[in-house]
Amino acid sequence: MRITAKTKICMVIGDPIEHSFSPQMHNAGYKALHIDNQYVYIACRVSIHTIDSFIKGAKATNIHGISCTMPHKIAVMPYLDEIDKVAKKIGAVNTIINNDGKLVGYNTDWLGVLTPLEKLTSLQNKKVALIGAGGAARAVAYAITNKGAKLLIFNRTIDKAKTLAEEFGGTAYPLNAAEIINNADIIINTTSVGLHDKKETPLPQKYITKNHIIFDVIYGHETRLLKEAKKQGAQIIQGREMLLYQGLAQFKLYTGHDAPETVMRKVLL
Ligand code: ATR
Repeated sequence: MRITAKTKICMVIGDPIEHSFSPQMHNAGYKALHIDNQYVYIACRVSIHTIDSFIKGAKATNIHGISCTMPHKIAVMPYLDEIDKVAKKIGAVNTIINNDGKLVGYNTDWLGVLTPLEKLTSLQNKKVALIGAGGAARAVAYAITNKGAKLLIFNRTIDKAKTLAEEFGGTAYPLNAAEIINNADIIINTTSVGLHDKKETPLPQKYITKNHIIFDVIYGHETRLLKEAKKQGAQIIQGREMLLYQGLAQFKLYTGHDAPETVMRKVLL
């Protein structure tokens, strides 16, 4: 055990939290860089009803970094002293740094989307079909419009798609406009379709071709969408890639070091 009184505490908060891979991922990174005496990463279950007292407690202690997951990404925002402009635009915070009691919020989810996409292609002028218009969709919309891609948003509740389209620049469609989704270069699913019921998919297989790049942000299992995309010969990006790259960016914010990608990826596999 290399933890001492000088070790900086980082943590992920959420509810539920027991399923989180973040402690293993970050601690493996600390160990690989031999900074596991300087940093330790834990998980805390924090209920939405006690987020205000948690934040007060964090300000009163020397907790160094706080990663936020469901349901806190928006809920924490009013309690922070400063929010960086990207997180403000996305409208969610997934990373907080405690600077001597001053809490500053950031968002690295958009990098979790952008980095794996840019490993496969340039986004400039690409048509991107974004399925869903919730919290995860906002980070995607920011990432891809920031890189000059054309945004097409498909959602069950069309009004939410319209709001997102107005905010980030793009066109809104109902979820069942599969023949328009089919025209996109890149298709990104941010809905929970396929998460609980593994037989569900947001896009029928016949609309997927080998020219598509299909990204599903659902992680933990390979979704029907991705299985069928593989069958059609499309390039796929698994949801765990988003988890990894948002985490690598957080690691850099917490420690100042470039994260050891190979070691941290191994944990997720
Ligand atoms: P997250 O923060 O993970 O994005 P969210 O903000 O609750 O979660 O958004 C969930 C998204 O999944 C929404 O786009 C939602 O569509 P609605 O805006 O119509 O609610 C979508 N979604 C959830 N269940 C769905 C279903 N069974 N069919 C289609 N879309 C669904």
